[in-house]
Amino acid sequence: MSHAEDHEGTRRDFLYYATGGAGVVVTAAAVWPLVNQMNPSADVQAASTIRVDVSTVEPGTQLTVLFLGKPIFIRRRTQEEIDEARAVELSELIDPLADNANLNGDADASDENRTLDEAGEWLVMQGVCTHLGCVPLGDGAGDFGGWFCPCHGSHYDTAGRIRRGPAPRNLPVPQAEFVDETTILLG
Ligand code: FES
Repeated sequence: MSHAEDHEGTRRDFLYYATGGAGVVVTAAAVWPLVNQMNPSADVQAASTIRVDVSTVEPGTQLTVLFLGKPIFIRRRTQEEIDEARAVELSELIDPLADNANLNGDADASDENRTLDEAGEWLVMQGVCTHLGCVPLGDGAGDFGGWFCPCHGSHYDTAGRIRRGPAPRNLPVPQAEFVDETTILLG
C-alpha cells in the first residue's frame, strides 16, 4: 500500500475530513473531503503493518503516511520542540494520559511517554483530531507550536497533546517501532 510521501509543504497540510459522525460541518475554505480516500479498502485493511522509510525526514519536518485509512504523522522534532514539550508540567495538560498504544493505558502524558525514541526526536501520531476527526494542520501550527485543528479550534503542543479547544484527548500514538536506523514499522 501507500508509500511514504513527503508531507512538508504539500497541500495535504490543508486537508480536513470528517469521520462518520452525523452533523459534522466543516466550514474551512480549503476543505477537501477525504472520507472516501480515508476509508480503508480491503487490501489496506489486510495489511496490518507497514514499514516507513524515514531516512529523508529532516529535523523540523513531518512525513504523513496513510495507514489503515488514517493519516499518520511522523515528525522529526527539533531540539527546541523537544525542550518545549519536556518543560510542560503534567498538571497543565487537559488529557493526563499518554494515549500511546505502545504503553500501558494508565501511562501519563509526559513527553517521554509520547515519543518513539528516548531522545524524543521522533513523534508518531494519528493525524486525526480527537474532537470530531478532522486532520489538524502541522508544522508549528496553533498557539502551542504543534498542531492546530481549525474546524473548531483545537490546539495541540509539540508532543501532540491537546492544550486548548474542544478536543478531549491527545493525538493517539499508534503501535510503532524502529526496526532499523531509518525504518519505522507501524502496526
Ligand atoms: S474536529 Fe473539531 S476541533 Fe478538531
